[in-house]
Amino acid sequence: MEKTLVLLKPSALQRALVGEVIKRFEQKGLKLTGIKMMQLNDEILNEHYAHLSERPFFQRIKDAMMTTPIIATCWEGLDAVQVVRTMTGATNGRNATPGTIRGDFSVSVQENIVHTSDSIENAKEELKRFFKKEEIFNYNHLTLPFLYANDEI
Ligand code: PPS
Repeated sequence: MEKTLVLLKPSALQRALVGEVIKRFEQKGLKLTGIKMMQLNDEILNEHYAHLSERPFFQRIKDAMMTTPIIATCWEGLDAVQVVRTMTGATNGRNATPGTIRGDFSVSVQENIVHTSDSIENAKEELKRFFKKEEIFNYNHLTLPFLYANDEI
């Protein structure tokens, strides 16, 4: 089963959407295997947004991510990276399809509620960045036979 990272950004905390976002992934059938509140700093954000370091909004997005703590979560499931990305919607909340998290709750490209890993490779890297090994838990969902057919898992 795949694992992926979802960061609930300061916009999720300020807008009181933490429960709503977590509820959506739970109700979809993904398994929550890690969750922690963290105050991010420049060091971790320089790494996390390294691919944006030349963009004009680099400092602004880092500042925005430090305005409150964030909540880092790890979700597990079949094709979890793609499932979570589909549920997240387009980066710019104004373009995101209704029914997605950003489509329902965001009108911004920066204040877009969640960060979600965009590939299996990045999910692995990002989970290592935000969680220690022992902070990701291994347990069984008792509903597994009702989430997937046995030829899917
Ligand atoms: S881009 O432009 O292709 O790099 O965009 P994308 O990969 O979809 O977005 C990466 C993250 O950058 C944020 N972003 C911005 N923040 C502020 N202002 C502007 N103009 C802007 N454009 C993109 C966007 O929210 C993404 O954040 P994460 O945390 O990865 O979702």
